Amino acid sequence: MPPEININDVYQTFAMTSNKQNQYRIRKMLETDIKTVVKIEQVTWLDESWSSQEFFDCLNHPHWQCWTLESTNNDNLILGYCFQYIYKHVSHIANLCIDPNQRGHGLGETLLRYMIDYSCLFGASVIKLKVNTSNIPAYRLYDKYGFRIVQFLPQYYSKHADAYQMILRL
Ligand SMILES: CC(C)(COP(=O)(O)OP(=O)(O)OC[C@H]1O[C@@H](n2cnc3c(N)ncnc32)[C@H](O)[C@@H]1OP(=O)(O)O)[C@@H](O)C(=O)NCCC(=O)NCCS
Repeated sequence: MPPEININDVYQTFAMTSNKQNQYRIRKMLETDIKTVVKIEQVTWLDESWSSQEFFDCLNHPHWQCWTLESTNNDNLILGYCFQYIYKHVSHIANLCIDPNQRGHGLGETLLRYMIDYSCLFGASVIKLKVNTSNIPAYRLYDKYGFRIVQFLPQYYSKHADAYQMILRL
């Protein structure tokens, strides 16, 4: 059984700046979030998006941890989300996405830090992920947090796009 971790023990509502207009919260994703999450996913990944059914399946699988980042000042508007799969001391980051209109303000970094902290609390010893070699923002984000390339995966994605496998030892 996964340990019970109270999300409020990890991250309280937080502000990215001293401006109280900008307050955010990370919480467990709900099925009612999926409609909005899919919209952000589709505008980001187009025909490579996860489907509603894939999000739904993850939410209902015991090894998946699914998080929503929302604004607490703006009708709890969903601004980003992430998914990690934790099993046998290995945490896999499978999805991390910020609404295109909200990028560049530290929200992606906040979700990544959250998943790293959660992996530690969960007893994982390593975090693994794959990133498209042309995705410079994501690669730089992971590199900033100590992830290192361990493998080059040629044509891993559709349209012959290559990937890096990256890992962070905890
Ligand atoms: C990757 C992503 C999650 C980053 O989220 P974000 O909120 O825009 O990023 P942040 O503002 O938190 O930036 C944190 C770090 O990421 C890197 N970064 C973010 N945007 C960048 C850009 N346009 N160019 C280069 N580096 C960038 C930087 O290292 C930055 O740290 P710095 O500000 O100290 O330089 C976001 O761009 C996104 O949702 N992209 C589409 C989905 C995606 O690619 N997901 C990852 C799949 S592996």
